[in-house]
Amino acid sequence: MRVGILTGGGDCPGLNAVIRAVVRRGRRRHGWDLIGIRCGWAGLTNEPDIMPLGIRDVGGILRIGGTILKTSRTNPFKAGGDPTDVIHNVNKLQMDAIIAIGGDDTLGVAEKLGGMGINCVGVPKTIDNDLSCTDVTFGFDTAVNIAMEAIDRLHTTAESHDRVLVVEVMGRHAGWIALYAGVAGGADAILIPERPSTISEVCDLLRTRHSRGKSFSIVVVAEGALVKFSDKKGDDSKHIVQADAVDQFGHIRLGGIANLLASEIEKNTGYETRAVVLGHLQRGGSPTAYDRMLATRYGSKAVDLVQAGDFGKMVALRGNDIVAVPLSEAISQQKLVNDELIDMAEDFFG
Ligand code: F6P
Repeated sequence: MRVGILTGGGDCPGLNAVIRAVVRRGRRRHGWDLIGIRCGWAGLTNEPDIMPLGIRDVGGILRIGGTILKTSRTNPFKAGGDPTDVIHNVNKLQMDAIIAIGGDDTLGVAEKLGGMGINCVGVPKTIDNDLSCTDVTFGFDTAVNIAMEAIDRLHTTAESHDRVLVVEVMGRHAGWIALYAGVAGGADAILIPERPSTISEVCDLLRTRHSRGKSFSIVVVAEGALVKFSDKKGDDSKHIVQADAVDQFGHIRLGGIANLLASEIEKNTGYETRAVVLGHLQRGGSPTAYDRMLATRYGSKAVDLVQAGDFGKMVALRGNDIVAVPLSEAISQQKLVNDELIDMAEDFFG
């Protein structure tokens, strides 16, 4: 069997661990011929951009961040795009199946191609942890640990200077990283997209905390959090963006809410405030042991699904089991932080 592997969307710690698992299990157990497709779906448009993937090619990559296959946010179905290129190349390369490692955008393409006769199996990846039908996506644990360690470090400098520190973490639609890192790091306020708030609420919370004798505070905010900065009628909360341009999947580039929050907090409360944006630090570097293990289990299960001809599925974690779920269900909606977790986190605010 000839199987292609690609990584699409934002990179994420653990991608190489999945690639390694697929190559080792596919080659050793089933004698597969494996082809690395470079730069996500871009590698199958125009002239194919591919590389051979033998067991030697994946030696030593388990602990390395990023992806040896490179990645992109190319969408073959974008307006004016032509997926027939992809289909033509899959046939030309005589690929029997593709294992696509990505988030809802990359897996959405895999699902559509499935409807056009291309055999695909998906592996869920995103540090944001917002993919449905799986308890966890790999990469999330690493990102949370990086953010938690940053919050730990910011505590000591905030306390030394009697300052408020606002830490911006990734999370476009869902506040998983903010909530987990914030609770694990003992943040005093956590702002996430699922629970919009106002600047007055944030400042009141900080004033109450400081009136109890605390002289510093840590606020964790997800880049996609919704905060109403004005009490004026009609001035609704909206996403803070870095640039108006959208990518091929229609996503705007978020970022900057921490700076706005910091200046508004300082203006309203008089507390000296600084902003820190963690950005891509959360996506780079070596995966945690948890993510290496999860990625390895996902890669192995993806091989089993392809070998069994069980296409149109995504591997997923349910409890402690790795299972197969329909790709169509996994991409049908985002997995948001539930009210129970948000309510629990709020007990620790202030
Ligand atoms: O992969 C998801 C994500 O990390 C989001 O949290 C973030 O908004 C986005 O990627 C950033 O993407 P880029 O690297 O293209 O700026």
